[in-house]
Amino acid sequence: MDRLKDKVALVSGAASGIGNATALRFAQEGATVVGFDVNEGGEAWQAVASCAKGSDFLTGDVTREAAVISAVERAVEKFGRIDVLVNAAGVSSYGATTDVDEAEWDRVMNINLKGSFLFAKHAAKSMLQQGSGSIVHIASIEGMVGLNGQITYGTSKGAVIQMTRNMAADFAKSGIRVNCVCPGAIETPLTAALQDESMRAMKQQMEEAHLMGRFGEADEIANAILFLASDEASFITGHPLVVDGGWTAGTLLSL
Ligand SMILES: NC(=O)c1ccc[n+]([C@@H]2O[C@H](COP(=O)([O-])OP(=O)(O)OC[C@H]3O[C@@H](n4cnc5c(N)ncnc54)[C@H](O)[C@@H]3O)[C@@H](O)[C@H]2O)c1
Repeated sequence: MDRLKDKVALVSGAASGIGNATALRFAQEGATVVGFDVNEGGEAWQAVASCAKGSDFLTGDVTREAAVISAVERAVEKFGRIDVLVNAAGVSSYGATTDVDEAEWDRVMNINLKGSFLFAKHAAKSMLQQGSGSIVHIASIEGMVGLNGQITYGTSKGAVIQMTRNMAADFAKSGIRVNCVCPGAIETPLTAALQDESMRAMKQQMEEAHLMGRFGEADEIANAILFLASDEASFITGHPLVVDGGWTAGTLLSL
């Protein structure tokens, strides 16, 4: 119940999916949560707000440095510190190398990579003054294995994994840990397009790629993020934690 007692956590992408599940999980563990999203928090955020009274929700775009600075400043002004940053804002993207246009490449890199960089850069300035902090990025197993038709998304997530290592090195002597989670396919609005009849075969193939034969739930990723964010992970930094129902562990043969 109290794994994040008295901690202040800033969570981007908090209006939906993994970010929202993480914000709620953090609130249940005693954190004060500042949510940030380009969309309004809506009902999903109400569950967090009613669990962690005094928590705050800000709208803004992670790709705009001014919006990121203002969110970090507001969190520090209101709550005095930022102990945990979770970068869960992100978008999917489909297309093979010769099909992706420049605008789509820039959109996805800006949100998935630059947005996480900007939030870490500015939250870390506050964490450096405290001499402590934990940053958790959300990468993907698609940053570790190559899938066809996913050039932009997979490349953005591979870069997030490497950014995690570089940031861990930058802050290792300053009491700030930086890790990322690498989820398999998770049931959230991001993968909702796979519910369409035309995508049924692909969805089934993806389910079977997980040794456990199913997509994960947002709560299952939130629990891994909670672990990395908390003091229980005090000797873990620069680590990509795979949470993928066995997708990257191997292949099930029909014997
Ligand atoms: N769902 C999956 O299968 C899966 C698997 C691996 C990794 N991930 C990653 O997890 C993270 C969360 O994804 P999700 O599945 O919860 O998706 P989601 O669509 O449910 O939530 C993403 C949130 O990010 C917000 N967002 C998007 N662009 C933004 C911007 N420019 N500024 C601020 N907020 C913005 C959206 O409004 C949304 O609320 C993403 O980085 C995604 O790539 C998801």
